Amino acid sequence: MRIDVLTLFPEMFLGPLQESILKRGQERGVLAIYLHQLRDYAFDRHQVTDDTPYGGGHGMVLKPEPAVRAVETLRGAGDWPVILLTPQGRTFTQEIAQDLAQQPRLLFICGHYEGFDERVREQVVTEELSLGDYVLTGGELAAMVMLDAIARWIPGVLGSAQSAPHDSYAEGLLEGPNYTRPAEFRGQAVPPVLLSGNHAAIARWKREQALFRTWSRRPELLAQTELSAEDRAYLEKIKGEL
Ligand code: ADE
Repeated sequence: MRIDVLTLFPEMFLGPLQESILKRGQERGVLAIYLHQLRDYAFDRHQVTDDTPYGGGHGMVLKPEPAVRAVETLRGAGDWPVILLTPQGRTFTQEIAQDLAQQPRLLFICGHYEGFDERVREQVVTEELSLGDYVLTGGELAAMVMLDAIARWIPGVLGSAQSAPHDSYAEGLLEGPNYTRPAEFRGQAVPPVLLSGNHAAIARWKREQALFRTWSRRPELLAQTELSAEDRAYLEKIKGEL
């Protein structure tokens, strides 16, 4: 997969892209990330990218010409998504990450100041995404978070191809607790079932822990999760106990 990012601050991306899983994905050739300086597409002598808002108001607005020119140059006749990062967009979720990971290419546009001139949205943006209901100083951090969440779904990016589908959220449940050695730490023992060697009992215990954690922390997620009769019986039991 190829991801292009249009930003006034390409250097902000260098740390996250050069470490760990995103680095490995690029080294393995399954992920290519290209950073583009928005200013390079401003063709006036001073490479101005912003201007004062029509109608007054505070702050500066990003001019339409550089962003539209950049998208047209990078996308040509392609039809893959052009995503504007903005708090006004659809809230990013695991499902959106999985969907976007199916695309051959993506282009992220990071805004700053009071955002882009509306005509950028109308002429070249295909989708607007928000990281959450809070305002960041720019779209860069949001783009990095989304890029990371998307990259994990690209085959070959994670160490084990099995990891991503079992994450919290991927199955609609939060992940339960994990343990490693030592078997006892400061008086707290690892749950005995995990040392039992009984794989069916371990799988059931893990499922119940995930159900319990989801029910106690994010009960609204259960409504969208596929639950077996056994799962439902367990949830009834814990509800009855409290
Ligand atoms: N830019 C500023 N705030 C943002 C947010 N919450 N999500 C995406 N882009 C943003």
